[in-house]
Amino acid sequence: MTGVAAPLLSATGVRVAFPGRRNTGEARAVDGVDLDIGNGEIVALVGESGCGKTTLARTLLGLVRPTSGTVRFGGRPLDYGSRGLKAYRKHVQLVLQDPSGSLNPRHTVYDAVAEGLRIHGHRGDEHTAVAEALALAGLRPPERFFLRYPHQLSGGQRQRVVIAGALVLRPELIVADEPVASLDASVRGEILALLLDLRDELGLSALVVTHDLGLAWNIADRVAVMYLGRIVETGPVEQVLTAPRHPYTRALLSVLPESEGSPVVLTGEPPDPSRIPGGCRFHARCHVLASGEAETAGVADRCRTEDLPVLPGSGSARVACHWARP
Ligand SMILES: Nc1ncnc2c1ncn2[C@@H]1O[C@H](COP(=O)(O)OP(=O)(O)OP(=O)(O)O)[C@@H](O)[C@H]1O
Ligand code: SF4
Ligand SMILES: [Mg+2]
Repeated sequence: MTGVAAPLLSATGVRVAFPGRRNTGEARAVDGVDLDIGNGEIVALVGESGCGKTTLARTLLGLVRPTSGTVRFGGRPLDYGSRGLKAYRKHVQLVLQDPSGSLNPRHTVYDAVAEGLRIHGHRGDEHTAVAEALALAGLRPPERFFLRYPHQLSGGQRQRVVIAGALVLRPELIVADEPVASLDASVRGEILALLLDLRDELGLSALVVTHDLGLAWNIADRVAVMYLGRIVETGPVEQVLTAPRHPYTRALLSVLPESEGSPVVLTGEPPDPSRIPGGCRFHARCHVLASGEAETAGVADRCRTEDLPVLPGSGSARVACHWARP
């Protein structure tokens, strides 16, 4: 939607390394990422398991402190002191993927949603704020849900309660890590529609973390494709998903049920952030390199030896690939 104005949230040169286990080097889970999220913009972060999506999301939330690089909200670097982080929670909220896991079975819906208000010493009327948040999350009339317990709700309703708990502080941005992964397909559509409504009604921004490209297509303005700690392709969702340029994005798309043509099966070892290969980090698994296409284009040596620059955090479609670059 936006993307032109100053970003609401931005990551610049963010790296997160975890200490290695015995015999391994440190795990560079996030290895140089620039990412901007604008006001009212929904960005999907996609990539296969272990590529660093959750680590990046937690870093944007201030839950992980980057090893290097900076996260800014409203142009200001995050304050990692306990007060600073508590204040930041009012602006940026997390919605977790498993609604039953994030709700206490002994708390009523009312208490679950009111919790954030109590933590933050909300001064207004709690009852009203809880009712409004539930209504925004599509649980109407809200009073009917106040005294229910999680086990008395459907999976979709539980997810809505989690979303209401995030909305009650009126954040500007929510980070949703696999928000609908555990839901039935029929309920998924509803929850996605809800996130889009919230964007339209409240101007809410969102980072939606998923390994489901179909979900990205349905919900996002912009998509960032992550591989082994880096964003390797990014741009407006229609452009990236209908005309993908990075061989990795193409491979991910080729295995979707609705895709035409034969699926590209990724060969080579599963990615390991404690052993990031030199050159293009995808080269050991790249079908364009393996098939000789990169050789024909005269870039095969660069594929194996020359690292690619970090892509800019916003703007037009970009790709980190020697072969796909103009
Ligand atoms: N606290 C930690 N200590 C050590 N390594 C970690 C830690 N957290 C994550 N990692 C490693 O960092 C890499 C990225 O993990 P992350 O959870 O961010 O991936 P992901 O893209 O969210 O995967 P998934 O789709 O499975 O949720 C993985 O190799 C993981 O093992
Ligand atoms: S740079 Fe080379 S190895 Fe990497 S994705 Fe592009 S073609 Fe494949
Ligand atoms: Mg994850």
